[in-house]
Amino acid sequence: MSSRKQKIDLGDSSNYEEQGRAVRQRLDEGDALNRWTGKPFSSRYYSILEARTKLPVYQFKDQVLKSLEDNQIIVVEGETGSGKTTQIPQFFLDAGFEERGVIACTQPRRVAATSIAARVAEEMDVNLGEEVGYTIRFEDVSDPNKTVLKFVTDGMLLREAMSDPLLLRYSVIILDEAHERTLATDVLMGLLQELLPKRTKGSKHGELKLVVMSATLDAKKFRDYFHGAPLLKVPGRTHPVEVFYTAEPEPNYLEAAVRTTIHIHQCEGPGDILVFLTGEQEIEQACEEIREKALALGQDLPELVVYPLYSSLPPQQQRQIFKPAPGPRIPGGPPGRKVVVSTNIAETSLTIDGIVYVVDPGFSKQKVYNPRVRVESLLVSPISRASARQRSGRAGRTRPGKLYTEKSFHNDLQETSYPEILRSQMSNVVLTLLKLGIEDLVHFDFMDPPAPETLMRALEELNYLGAIDDDGQLTEVGYQMSELPLDPQLSKLLLISPDYGCSSEILSIVACMSVPQIFMRPRESAKAADAAKAQFTHPDSDHITLLNAYAEYEACPDSEKKKWCWDNFINDRSILSAGNVRKQLMGLMKKLDLPIVTSDRKGDGSFAYTDIRRALTSAMFMQVAFRQQSGVYLTVKDNQKVYIHPSSVIISRPDWVLYEEFALTTQNYIRTVTVTNVDWLVEAAPHYYDLENFPECQAKAELERAYSRLKFSKK
Ligand code: CDP
Ligand code: MG
Repeated sequence: MSSRKQKIDLGDSSNYEEQGRAVRQRLDEGDALNRWTGKPFSSRYYSILEARTKLPVYQFKDQVLKSLEDNQIIVVEGETGSGKTTQIPQFFLDAGFEERGVIACTQPRRVAATSIAARVAEEMDVNLGEEVGYTIRFEDVSDPNKTVLKFVTDGMLLREAMSDPLLLRYSVIILDEAHERTLATDVLMGLLQELLPKRTKGSKHGELKLVVMSATLDAKKFRDYFHGAPLLKVPGRTHPVEVFYTAEPEPNYLEAAVRTTIHIHQCEGPGDILVFLTGEQEIEQACEEIREKALALGQDLPELVVYPLYSSLPPQQQRQIFKPAPGPRIPGGPPGRKVVVSTNIAETSLTIDGIVYVVDPGFSKQKVYNPRVRVESLLVSPISRASARQRSGRAGRTRPGKLYTEKSFHNDLQETSYPEILRSQMSNVVLTLLKLGIEDLVHFDFMDPPAPETLMRALEELNYLGAIDDDGQLTEVGYQMSELPLDPQLSKLLLISPDYGCSSEILSIVACMSVPQIFMRPRESAKAADAAKAQFTHPDSDHITLLNAYAEYEACPDSEKKKWCWDNFINDRSILSAGNVRKQLMGLMKKLDLPIVTSDRKGDGSFAYTDIRRALTSAMFMQVAFRQQSGVYLTVKDNQKVYIHPSSVIISRPDWVLYEEFALTTQNYIRTVTVTNVDWLVEAAPHYYDLENFPECQAKAELERAYSRLKFSKK
């Protein structure tokens, strides 16, 4: 491929300016060929190029390149929308870095990785998936022989490090959105600390450069961590933002956000609106209400279009947000307006042009973890002051803007949010680090070390799952688990499923659990949706209910799949991607020499339900709840009061249930539940259900009876 490229010789590193000028001049002359495709550029290329050269970071191209040539690590800080993510990786291509290895740019969010890759491919006038690609979990749109610039979620780069510990494929790693301090970015930073000294200039494998990039960051903290790496500040061009506070605290922030949006539409001049809410359900509801209310206002006001934005939204719909607002209803009339209702994706990772008004109720969904009771959950919480500032900044990007928010917040917000590493369950990370050969977790150079209790919990859980031995060494099982891109319990579930003769079914279940909810339940047709789901229901298991739906979908001829989904209230995109995930996991299982066996021996869909439930029990024995005499469920060992979520198919009130997810809302709910029993539990995990270390509770009495019964029956 390099023969096709008109590579600009790097030569003397002080020559960037000159090279930049040469490139621009050639472009100006209009006779340049695309160095990647060898073809003339499209007209779209030139129109985007013009906008690109006006972005604030463009003025810093030479400085960024020079600084990176002189240093192994640099830190770049610049206002959201200044062009960091889309332009800086291209600077490195202009300077020929791809000759030394691929350039990777990490993103904390899947949506950002995919949409930015698409944008940059467009800017470079190449096909997405060829020179420019992306890799997110279960989706790799890149070409190992051709891709020179790859956008990748931080979690996926971490996985790659497991098979390529020196990241030899790469010449530059850009850690973008570093201020978000996601768990994976934090671990990557720690790894890079260890790795970079092994890949310095003149080292055997060539130099690896690191660019840490962010909208706002605690510059001192980052620079200290990276041994005083130079900081480049790209000044923003923001306009003043006027702030309007609600008169009183709003008890229902969703309703208030809808009301405010409509108010802006009625009373304010042209300009698009960005509304921040916390999750899919809320966002869809708000979109619906805004549409209804706008419709009711009649034809006198300009047209209003509303787009949702959240991570589980199909990519095609995600791209809608970049469409320009509609034109005027009548020639010469006021232009239409666009409203984007988004999670905090739009806070820093995506920039939507044309936003003038921001409605910010001040909440986001944040992960919380309590190691004492082993519960990790997403909780709607007030955002930090730093986030609030970022959100308001979205309004003043292209011209003066207005922010609508609630006052009480700004008085008692935390300055920044805690990094995710302090709010997460760690077993997956610990497994990754062990696989990477890092055993001394306590002395690993985390920017903010996790609580010792959290690390201890993770080690304990991995030990119960058989992934590490009592000395903390990775076992064969642990090694196999680390090869699967799943949480440890689900990895374990796949690994043991052949022993229960149902690995094919467990694959389907795990695949369905790895994609957004496949059962849809629109508010207006909830009854019909429930009736459709009832056809697949197994009264003892949400997991098997998923399996039944998936099996029927698989059996349906391809040409009828879409209609089948529609008729059965199944999210067709979700189930399609479940199929894709299943295929990939099956490939990984085969690589690990694990047999794919079905319990449906007659081939008529009659699965061995008991075996499937036993397999589930053997992997998920740490997520079990027991029904008390009073009727409530308590989680085993941690004694948390929980309720079975109303969406569950389980309506009987069984003694023992295992669950997939612990959701903290107004009440503690467990979701995706399967009925299990005490005999299976003590057989599958006697080391966990050992009476000696079991806290006193009603479940313990049951266990004692089970042990004596089993001993008795074994004799
Ligand atoms: O990373 P940073 O926030 O500094 O900016 P960016 O994501 O590189 O975006 C730079 C500019 O590119 C934005 O301000 C938009 O004008 C434009 N852009 C776009 O028009 N469409 C996209 N899908 C992405 C970026
Ligand atoms: Mg960016």
